[in-house]
Amino acid sequence: MVRTPRLLMIPGPTPVVRSIQNQMARETVAFGDADFIADFRGVVADLKTMWRCDGEVFVVAGSGTLAMEMAISNVTKRDDDVLVCSHGFFGDRFIDMCSRRGLKVDVLAAKWGSVPVPEQMDARLSEKKYAAVTVTHVDTSTGAMAPLKEICDMMKARHPEALLIVDAVAAAGGAESWMDWGIDVLLTCSQKAFGVAPGLAVLWAGRRAVERRAALGTIPESYVDFEKWIPVMNDPAKYWGTPPVNMIWALKESMRIIKEEGLEERYARHARQAAIFVSAMEALGFRPAAGEGHRAPTLTIFFYPEGSGLEDAAFRAKLAEEGVQSAGCLAGFAGRGFRLGHMGNIDKHTLVGTIAAVERACIRCGYRVAPGKGLSVLQEGLVRE
Ligand SMILES: Cc1ncc(COP(=O)(O)O)c(C=O)c1O
Repeated sequence: MVRTPRLLMIPGPTPVVRSIQNQMARETVAFGDADFIADFRGVVADLKTMWRCDGEVFVVAGSGTLAMEMAISNVTKRDDDVLVCSHGFFGDRFIDMCSRRGLKVDVLAAKWGSVPVPEQMDARLSEKKYAAVTVTHVDTSTGAMAPLKEICDMMKARHPEALLIVDAVAAAGGAESWMDWGIDVLLTCSQKAFGVAPGLAVLWAGRRAVERRAALGTIPESYVDFEKWIPVMNDPAKYWGTPPVNMIWALKESMRIIKEEGLEERYARHARQAAIFVSAMEALGFRPAAGEGHRAPTLTIFFYPEGSGLEDAAFRAKLAEEGVQSAGCLAGFAGRGFRLGHMGNIDKHTLVGTIAAVERACIRCGYRVAPGKGLSVLQEGLVRE
C-alpha cells in the first residue's frame, strides 16, 4: 500500500511550502555576498514597517526561547521587579528565566484555558513599580489568546512606565499584534505562523526598549545583546555572529507570501478557518480547552469526548498512521486531549485531510463517529469562506 504522507499539524513547526523549502535548498553564499546583504536588509525593513515598529528589528539564529531571553536581557537589570502574566506552560518559562537573571519576579497566573485580563493586571501593577511585564499572546499549552489590544490600552493609560514584553511565538503572523498598540518588545520565531522551518528568532524592539537597553550600560549577555546586533540589522554587511543565510532567504520568501496575502487578510483568514475547523471537531465530540471568547486562531487543544474511550497515546498513534502528526498536551492537560496547529501557510486541502484523518483514527480506535460528520461541517464552512 502507498504510504500516506504525514501532515505536520503540531503547533509548530508548521508545514513548510515548496517555495520556502527551495530557498533553504539553495547553494549557500558568503554572508558578505552583495545580493544576500540586500535580501537581509529587505527582510529587516519589511518586518519593521509591516509590524509598525519605531525601533529596531532583530533576526538571529535561534529559537523562540532565545528570543524570550533576548527580550528580558535587554530591558531589565538585576533586582528589577517584573510581573509575569502567565496562562500556561510557556508563560511560566519567563519565571525561571527572570529568576536566573536575578530579577524579582511576581506572577499573575490565569487558570489554564483562560487568560489574564487587563483589570487583574492593573490591580497588580498598581501595587508596586515594575520595570517590565510579560504577556504570552497565545500560550501553546492551552490554545488561549490573551486580549492583547485591551492589555496595551490599559498599560498605556495606567502604567506607561512598565515596559510590555509580548511572547507572540504562537501568534505573530497569524493573530493580530502591532507594535504601535504600545508593545515595547514583541518576539517570535520562524517555525510557527511564518511557516518557515525552525532556526530563526525574530524580535521587534520599540524605541522605548532600545532606549532602556542603552541606559543599562554593559549587560552580562553577549550573543543576545541588542547593541551588538543593531549595527548588523541596520547594515547586514557588518558582522557580529554568522547569519543563517539560507534561513534568511526562507524568511524572505515567507514575507513575500505574507505580503501577497496581506497581513490583515492573513489574520482574518486564520480567524475564519480556526472557527470552521473547531466546529468540525466539535461535531465529532471534541471540546476546545480554551474558553469561548479567547480561543486562538492559530492552534487548538482538543479534549477527548467524554465516554469515547479514546486513549491519548493510542489515538495519536492511529492519527499518525492516518497521516496527521499531532502533539500531546503538556503538564496538567497531558492525556486529556491533543494539540493541533492550524496556522501559517496551510490550505484547504490540509484542513480537509486533517479532519478526515481524525474521523478515521476515531473509528479505528473504536469510537464510532459517522464518517463525514466532521467533514460535512468543515466543507460547509469552507465553501462559504
Ligand atoms: C508561546 C511560546 N513561547 C515560547 C516557545 C519556545 O519556542 P522554541 O521552542 O522555539 O524555543 C514556544 C514553543 O512552542 C511557544 O509556543
